[in-house]
Amino acid sequence: MDVLVEIRHLFFWYGQRLVLEDINFDIKRGDFLAILGPNGSGKTTLLKCILGLLKPQKGEIKLFGVPVEEFSEKWRLGYVPQRAIALVDPVFPLSVEEVVGFGLLPKKKFPRFLARADKDAILKALKQVEMENYLHQRISKLSGGQQQRVFIARALVSRPEILILDEPTTGIDAATQERFYDLLAEFNQKGLTIVIVTHDIGIVNKHVKQVACLNRRLVYHGTHEEFCSSPRLQQIIGEHHLVIHRH
Ligand SMILES: Nc1ncnc2c1ncn2[C@@H]1O[C@H](COP(=O)(O)OP(=O)(O)OP(=O)(O)O)[C@@H](O)[C@H]1O
Ligand SMILES: [Mg+2]
Repeated sequence: MDVLVEIRHLFFWYGQRLVLEDINFDIKRGDFLAILGPNGSGKTTLLKCILGLLKPQKGEIKLFGVPVEEFSEKWRLGYVPQRAIALVDPVFPLSVEEVVGFGLLPKKKFPRFLARADKDAILKALKQVEMENYLHQRISKLSGGQQQRVFIARALVSRPEILILDEPTTGIDAATQERFYDLLAEFNQKGLTIVIVTHDIGIVNKHVKQVACLNRRLVYHGTHEEFCSSPRLQQIIGEHHLVIHRH
């Protein structure tokens, strides 16, 4: 089995505060993993450690077999951050093309301007999320759901092997969410490995293959079937307040 992410004995502190405690698990090629957990349980921190954006004080993370601190092919991981929409400043006039173009920066050497091939890649990524007709629109003029699709395109444009999404559907209506998850499932069927942090039990039931429950420690990690049939499930949910709540 092709292990893309290997996490061993991972600990993370913000100052004195222990946020991740002895986390161990693997992400394999083809996985569709949901990470569940209450607010403040360390989900975003864990993703940032995997992406090399935060440096854990203890433990080891390997990406494609390489320790994260030595890993130089960042484009192999696509990331849609939590509240990406809020990061869009409505007064700063960025076009859809420019936003998606940012996703190519990890692949580029100096000078970092967009070449013809980049423009083709941007258009292709936008087609994947059915947003190709908005290439020259200002991002701030799109609806929340449309902006979210653009952020997915930004994460996909470097043709990553893992797509990591942190609560990508917060504030999006149910029908749009449903289409969005179908799209993710389609990408997964085509071989893209997906890791999604979510409070939405709907997607967990319908699409994902693996489930991880985080509450500082990894209180559960296994297949979706095991998760659903586990006699301990109610207990885990009760003990760790894994009630699915929306922001
Ligand atoms: N930059 C920071 N400095 C200090 N503490 C932080 C920082 N970022 C997060 N924390 C704290 O670390 C804990 C874990 O935060 P994290 O953002 O990983 O949680 P989360 O599971 O993603 O929560 P949510 O579901 O609300 O997004 C929280 O208690 C939070 O207050
Ligand atoms: Mg978070």
